[in-house]
Amino acid sequence: MAVVEQKMSCHVLTLVPIFLLLVYALFAVSPFIDRKLSVTKSSTATAAAPTAAPPSAAAGVTVLYSRRNASGVERIEEELARARAAIREAIRSRSYRSYKEEGFVPLGAVYRNPIAFQQSHIEMVKRFKVWTYKEGERPLVHRAPMNNIYSIEGQFLDEMESGKSPFRAQTPDEAHVFYLPFSVASIIHFIYQPILSKKDYDRGRLHRIVDDYVGVVAGKYPYWNRSQGADHFMVSCHDWAPEVSTANPKLYSKFIRVLCNANTSEGFRPNRDAALPELYLQYGQLGPTPTQSRTDCPPSNRTILAFFSGGAHGYIRRLLFDHWKKDNDNSDPQVQVFEHLPNRAIYTAKMGSSKFCLCPSGYEVASPRIVEAINHGCVPVLISANYSLPFAEVLDWSEFTVSVPVERIGEMKEILEGVSEERYLEMYERVKGVRRHFVLNRPAKAYDLLHMVLHSLWLRRLNVRL
Ligand SMILES: *[C@@H]1O[C@H](CO)[C@@H](O)[C@H](O)[C@H]1NC(C)=O
Ligand SMILES: *[C@@H]1O[C@H](CO)[C@@H](O)[C@H](O)[C@H]1NC(C)=O
Ligand SMILES: *[C@@H]1O[C@H](CO)[C@@H](O)[C@H](O)[C@H]1NC(C)=O
Ligand SMILES: *[C@@H]1O[C@H](CO)[C@@H](O)[C@H](O)[C@H]1NC(C)=O
Ligand SMILES: *[C@@H]1O[C@H](CO)[C@@H](O)[C@H](O)[C@H]1NC(C)=O
Repeated sequence: MAVVEQKMSCHVLTLVPIFLLLVYALFAVSPFIDRKLSVTKSSTATAAAPTAAPPSAAAGVTVLYSRRNASGVERIEEELARARAAIREAIRSRSYRSYKEEGFVPLGAVYRNPIAFQQSHIEMVKRFKVWTYKEGERPLVHRAPMNNIYSIEGQFLDEMESGKSPFRAQTPDEAHVFYLPFSVASIIHFIYQPILSKKDYDRGRLHRIVDDYVGVVAGKYPYWNRSQGADHFMVSCHDWAPEVSTANPKLYSKFIRVLCNANTSEGFRPNRDAALPELYLQYGQLGPTPTQSRTDCPPSNRTILAFFSGGAHGYIRRLLFDHWKKDNDNSDPQVQVFEHLPNRAIYTAKMGSSKFCLCPSGYEVASPRIVEAINHGCVPVLISANYSLPFAEVLDWSEFTVSVPVERIGEMKEILEGVSEERYLEMYERVKGVRRHFVLNRPAKAYDLLHMVLHSLWLRRLNVRL
């Protein structure tokens, strides 16, 4: 078994924590002072490229690049510096610069800083390149579920490997980030069979497969050692995925994990890792429900206050059922909480005719209901603890969802009835507005779910200097 030691290689990597804080601050601070935007049709690529982060001694990098003679990594860093500078400038001038007409302009309270986001997205589309390692064999690597609740794992992988993505790097030397295309869901599916006793759950096999994979690419190419994994990432929606790195925390200390199970109590690091929305895809479908057959009532026709249907998975759901499950004693027509509904058509019809859809955590923090609710124009009610929400560096979830702390599940009806009609309508409109960020398109389109996932990676890469 290959074990990769943590060692500073000759190409010194230093994280620039100052910049990290800065980008988060930039995205979080004073979101919508001035919504006037102007499109300046000019290429920022030809503009002078001031260095973005202060050339701190800690960074240990030479900032004076000679463009013609830059090595791969210098060229990459120079380009990222230009992107940072463009984002800073957009924030300063409160206007974005684009080299083409922008089809969509993020506006409003759901965005922490709409202009920063727009400029960052523009820079991403213009520059961002992802190298997917070719090593490894199916079915554990290069193959992941395309349907059902882990589908986002396979859809992302397939998007990057299909050869059609404009974000695909042609060579590793032009890549900003490196994708390790193993699938935790496939590993569990193919290796952990059959499960007969408790010891068959032992995570050792998962650890060894992933450590081996890292060992192979780190031994064969300079990229992992160069950054100690800081520009490398994995994507997984499986509950066990966070545990990939638990046996060898040192090896993975800088690695970016893109996870559905974004539980901060289980070591999820919101600034380095990225949360992935969970998406339930029926066979052969790209969206939770085909648009044409989707129930999506206007607010006045949403006659159910709150709706939930799902299994009694985990302690939060059990609490929910204790208080609200529909049975003979509880037939509240306003709060409809079911363990079983006869079919999916009824499920989606209920979502489309409810004002609020309950999204409690199950066996793990994420739930596909959040995306389903958004798709059905139903305001999500988040009932979870320690869940780091997807795209939270860009989206202010408190503007289009309601959070009910687990301890207050019993007060759910009062809490939801306490939301004024005006506030509800505002959130309803915003839910419809953020929908585009939760729609899966293949190939990906601007600002859709896959772009948002890539943007999460792009932002994290902007926060690191090699
Ligand atoms: C590139 O830079 C190196 C030193 O970093 C120098 O030795 C080499 O001659 C340069 N090459 C060109 C083509 O300027
Ligand atoms: C990366 O580091 C590991 C452990 O020090 C070493 O075995 C491997 O050969 C290095 N990779 C390269 C490409 O030098
Ligand atoms: C997890 O959530 C609980 C309850 O909200 C909170 O008390 C605790 O501090 C959280 N832990 C972490 C690591 O976020
Ligand atoms: C909304 O409800 C009204 C009254 O019940 C009904 O006439 C109308 O067709 C409904 N609209 C939709 C879009 O379902
Ligand atoms: C999050 O992690 C903590 C610590 O392992 C665990 O107790 C909790 O149940 C997890 N949350 C969910 C919803 O699984």
